[in-house]
Amino acid sequence: MINNLENTVKNTFIAKFNTTPIVVCSPGRINLIGEHTDYNMGFVLPAAIDKAMYMAIAKQDNDNINLFSLDLNDNFSTSVLHYSKSDKQWANYIIGVVDELLKMGIKVSGFSLVFAGDVPLGAGLSSSAALECATVFALNTLFDMQLTKLQMAQIAQQAEREYVGVKCGIMDQFASIFGKKNHLIKLDCRSLAYEYVPFNLVGVKTILFDSMVKHSLASSEYNIRSQQCQQGVNIIQKKYPEVKTLRDANSHIVEECLALGDIKIYNRCKFVVNEIARLQLACQYLTEGNLLEFGKKMYETHQGLSQLYEVSCPELDFMANCAKQQPNIIGARMMGGGFGGCIIALIKQDAVSEVIEIMKNAYQTQMGKQLKVYEVNIEDGTRVL
Ligand code: GLA
Repeated sequence: MINNLENTVKNTFIAKFNTTPIVVCSPGRINLIGEHTDYNMGFVLPAAIDKAMYMAIAKQDNDNINLFSLDLNDNFSTSVLHYSKSDKQWANYIIGVVDELLKMGIKVSGFSLVFAGDVPLGAGLSSSAALECATVFALNTLFDMQLTKLQMAQIAQQAEREYVGVKCGIMDQFASIFGKKNHLIKLDCRSLAYEYVPFNLVGVKTILFDSMVKHSLASSEYNIRSQQCQQGVNIIQKKYPEVKTLRDANSHIVEECLALGDIKIYNRCKFVVNEIARLQLACQYLTEGNLLEFGKKMYETHQGLSQLYEVSCPELDFMANCAKQQPNIIGARMMGGGFGGCIIALIKQDAVSEVIEIMKNAYQTQMGKQLKVYEVNIEDGTRVL
């Protein structure tokens, strides 16, 4: 079946540029557990989903770059030879990728592209990574760059870190590129070794509850969290020089070296080492089919993100608490960078509509806002259509 968005970007492209493009699809992601662990070189457990960016692209005969965002109905033009950061943030995700490729000495000449997506923006589903990954994948195909999937994920991540300025880890871009239908990716962010964990739970649905709070604080606070973790590592290193990142530490080391110091640094590092250990246990439960225990770990993650890492918000806390009181919700927690976005919940299939009603009503009554709900399915990663 041809997706509507695939047709839409393709037809718009042909109408605008009068030539036939290739079309690339790059998905958003969910993450079951392992939050804020990627830039601390720990583990994550994400998956690509059936919400994606669709990008139609073709070469130009010159060095011009012409971009069109269908969703925003906005154009941006520049050139491979002279470009700079734009006030249009959406364009920076694309130009950031071009910039990384050029810095690596890879030849890029002019191109035109049109894109649109159904990954909700600012909902913590990594629409930005999806756009970066679509761009690098499309350019790799168009100019036959022979990049590996890992190189593409890393280039997309660098674009976000350098050009956009969010000092993110590799989870989102890795998940978007490496996604596999009905599988989670257990990724070791230190070695970049990964394994696919089957995730096709009979009788259970993955549902996202979107708080509709846009995470505007996210990028500045995100970078602060990353710095605080590094400060913790710097202190630990005075006693344990072999600890290069929080992945190399553990809860005893954190207690010993940080408990008497700055409370924020202590709490951040405590959360991260706990979360890395929690993910391992959670994966074990998943393999054993013990969803109940897996769900408990999701709630523990939420509590840690809220109280120790302080990246939650009242709306997300309200929903996580509300979910916890529902026997038909196996596990739930806030997902992604934080300060808004979604709660991810595993819900018993038979009770999905009932639970959604309860959550929607509670949210409206207590928070005075409408909850948006998405059912997600796990899909393959970035691909040419
Ligand atoms: C954002 C970042 C990721 C990761 C998560 C938190 O999505 O882009 O690298 O750090 O937050 O787990």
